[in-house]
Amino acid sequence: MGLKEQIDLTRLPKHIAVIMDGNGRWARKKGMMRVFGHQNGVKAVRETVETCAELGIKCLTLYAFSTENWNRPKSEVDALMSLLISTLRKELHTLTENNIRLRAIGDLSALPPDGYRELMEVMEQTENNEHMDLILALSYSARWEMTQAIRSIAEKARSGELNAEDITEECISDHMNTAAYPDPELLIRTSGESRISNFLLWQIAYTELYFTPTLWPDFRKEDVYMALLDYQKRERRFGKTSEQIQEKR
Ligand code: FPP
Repeated sequence: MGLKEQIDLTRLPKHIAVIMDGNGRWARKKGMMRVFGHQNGVKAVRETVETCAELGIKCLTLYAFSTENWNRPKSEVDALMSLLISTLRKELHTLTENNIRLRAIGDLSALPPDGYRELMEVMEQTENNEHMDLILALSYSARWEMTQAIRSIAEKARSGELNAEDITEECISDHMNTAAYPDPELLIRTSGESRISNFLLWQIAYTELYFTPTLWPDFRKEDVYMALLDYQKRERRFGKTSEQIQEKR
């Protein structure tokens, strides 16, 4: 039986988040510039989006550019931004054909104006698509997101719109960039690193983490299937005992 056939389609995560890592190392191994790795990373993005859409995953969040990535050499930042713009332009029809809605989280105001415009354009054009949400984390960091959520809650408290006792977990979730999406049940990180790197810290409280040595440009359908099979082998207990979980089945 192939990997795909082993997946239980009734127990898929609704939301998968991915830390796409290892583009630079992939390129260096081939004696190429880092940008070559990012360019080839786009193939992995396409394949991951396609695979998740085919399976019926409702949300896919990709960590495309972190707040910390602004500190990379200007030439690499510029190349990543151009790649983002050209990819969005090229893939608009694929998103439309596959009924995929493009969304974004992060400090989008920090994007260069042409990148921001392109992103808004594709988001608008795909606004009514409903098969899957593809969420790009751009100029994103979880601490930035939490800081702006706390600021916004503080302002509402100051103006009397919120009382201290209204500040519940749900209220905090509602002030995150991800308010419209369920928390991810599965987080994948490629390239053998076992870190979270400031990604979705609030949202991953109960998320299953999957680390693979595959470098991002090599990530393919089968890697998605392997991550899902690994996820389905695990028992998600949310603080309960194994017996309580078995009883519910
Ligand atoms: C991490 O590899 C990857 C990134 C910082 C950027 C990811 C971007 C893409 C895959 C292309 C554009 C994406 C979209 C959605 C169009 P790294 O550079 O940190 O690799 P290293 O750890 O080996 O140096």
